[in-house]
Amino acid sequence: MTCALVVPAAGRGERLGAGVPKALVPVAGEPLLVHALRRALASGVVDVVVVVAPAGEQQHVRTLLSPLGAADLRVVAGGAERQDSVRCGLAALPEGVDVVLVHDAARCLTPPSVFRSVVAAVRGGAVAVVPVLPVSDTVKRVRAGRVVATVDRRELVAVQTPQGFSCAPLRAAHRAADSAAPATDDAGMLEALGHEVLTVAGDDTAFKVTRPVDLVLAEALLSGGRA
Ligand code: CTP
Ligand code: MG
Repeated sequence: MTCALVVPAAGRGERLGAGVPKALVPVAGEPLLVHALRRALASGVVDVVVVVAPAGEQQHVRTLLSPLGAADLRVVAGGAERQDSVRCGLAALPEGVDVVLVHDAARCLTPPSVFRSVVAAVRGGAVAVVPVLPVSDTVKRVRAGRVVATVDRRELVAVQTPQGFSCAPLRAAHRAADSAAPATDDAGMLEALGHEVLTVAGDDTAFKVTRPVDLVLAEALLSGGRA
């Protein structure tokens, strides 16, 4: 049984606005991607790693990650949208992989325990597994600047990564995906094909570094020894 981790890390990071691809932005002295991969490897459940790097950065990324000692590390170039990058990563998987984790480099503080619980749920028979957190804000539906509904947040969750999949259905979902309407997560593609998606508990520290304030939080958690 082989578990592969695909790490989409090829985004530009426009909302962060750091002037370099987000995965390469340093926090507490190391790029987000290094923090993310260290935690994934510490889970002990990952056999093969495919990092999807920004175009032209493959060699640099390989050099950054080699000290982490992944047994099988592959680095490929990404595509225009996240979905394209994940597809590039899937194409680089070796034969014999049965479980695939897809994990955003930008969720750089996700603890090893979340990787373990996602993999355990896939090994337990789930086709697709997502870590989730309850939504803490009140959420409203708005049209043309006016509130048209308040959504019952008891039935809402925020979805994180790593998302875990049985390999063949994930590949099939990516083959069937509509590149004109790219998905923002992988589980959504399997959902669209009628597969059940199981949830496990996410973690507060698995937030996605998206805007500058997220970097401040990541920095504070790391320097305070809380992540
Ligand atoms: N990603 C990717 N390839 C893309 C776009 C995104 O591999 N073409 C990756 C990012 O590197 C990130 C993850 O997907 O690890 C989640 O995407 P997001 O947070 O949106 O990152 P960016 O696209 O880099 O940020 P922005 O949307 O602000 O430009
Ligand atoms: Mg993006």
